[in-house]
Amino acid sequence: MKVALGIGCDRGTPLSTLERAVDEALAMAGLQRGQVTGVGSITLKADEPGLLALAAQAGWPLHFYPATQLAEVVVPHPSETVRRHTGTPSVSEAAALLAAGTTEASALWVEKHRLRGDDGRNATVSVARVEPRAATPPLTANADPDRRFTAAEREAVQSLMQVRRDMRHFTAGAQVAEDVRARLQAALLAAPSVGLMQPLRVLRITAPALRDRLAAAVDEERMRTAQAMGSRAAEFLALKVEGVRECAELWALVLAPDDGTLFGRRTLASEMAWCSAGAAVQNLWLTARAEHLGLGWVSLFEPGDLHTLLALPAGAVPLGLLCIGPVDRFYPVPMLVQEGWRQKRPATALFAENSWDPTWCDGAASPGTLPSVSLSPCPVSFT
Ligand SMILES: Cc1cc2nc3c(=O)[nH]c(=O)nc-3n(C[C@H](O)[C@H](O)[C@H](O)COP(=O)(O)O)c2cc1C
Repeated sequence: MKVALGIGCDRGTPLSTLERAVDEALAMAGLQRGQVTGVGSITLKADEPGLLALAAQAGWPLHFYPATQLAEVVVPHPSETVRRHTGTPSVSEAAALLAAGTTEASALWVEKHRLRGDDGRNATVSVARVEPRAATPPLTANADPDRRFTAAEREAVQSLMQVRRDMRHFTAGAQVAEDVRARLQAALLAAPSVGLMQPLRVLRITAPALRDRLAAAVDEERMRTAQAMGSRAAEFLALKVEGVRECAELWALVLAPDDGTLFGRRTLASEMAWCSAGAAVQNLWLTARAEHLGLGWVSLFEPGDLHTLLALPAGAVPLGLLCIGPVDRFYPVPMLVQEGWRQKRPATALFAENSWDPTWCDGAASPGTLPSVSLSPCPVSFT
């Protein structure tokens, strides 16, 4: 049995009080220090000397979570006083769960052990079980194929689609719990694809140096795009178009070298592979939003740069960088609308019956040159 600890404490709590609180909490569960895999706390405590000393002395990795992320975790003992002081109703319980890689409150082994030290400083310790990694992600099993969704569930699906947003602002220093990552993975596996070819591959970027290089490649393309924007260059540069450096999770999307699937793609082979990848990302996008995580698709890069940085094989095509993670707040409308970059088309501009609506192509300005696009654009100039 492996466990993770969550610790909350007053400012200046000495090492001896923290040690006592931890040892008592472990003893309550019949556990030893050697079973602890790590310690979680709130970002506010990232410079707390006693906590840093405790972790260093025991050799425990420390994970600090922002208040917004801790506040998302449903815990048995939320506290209004703790919320007033820290911005989250729980530090130790929520941090223990996140450090254990879960948000399931049932994983708490010791919910909340409080100790007031001889010096009057308080420490709170929670202990959460670290579940062994599941071989297959949850949610894939036991789904009833004939399941009928209730009116409330249908409403939830509709509202999920309305509040899904492409996000570029992320909570710095936040993380995504392992069970949530597993649910994102399950969403990818459930996606439709042409001829069931499943062309999308995802590389989770965990090496900080690689993330930096990918961010630099995006910056370079952002400048090249601005140059190509003409009169809207300055306006474009003022927009935030990616959150590569600050998002909790960075996933590179790659279209696998073509496996030759013919079913459904004799005529539009590469387009159908791309569409399949897009459908898979939409599953991820909605799942992320349901998990209260932001997701931003970044397509500003030179494909050759990512091909090299990710050491992709011949025939593999980088499709995007997905920025995923907790956000402070979701944009109420698409950020491009919010910033006055562009308006959304109304329904009448998207749906017609039986034949093409001639008003759809009456924009009249000269087409921009879009390299790499084999479609003929409508004679409407968009930036
Ligand atoms: C394939 C694809 C690539 C995208 N690339 C970027 C990008 O590089 N930077 C960016 O800011 N938004 C990007 N977006 C997000 C769109 O700008 C966004 O979906 C659109 O403005 C509508 O906003 P919403 O998703 O919040 O409804 C991309 C979206 C898609 C589907």
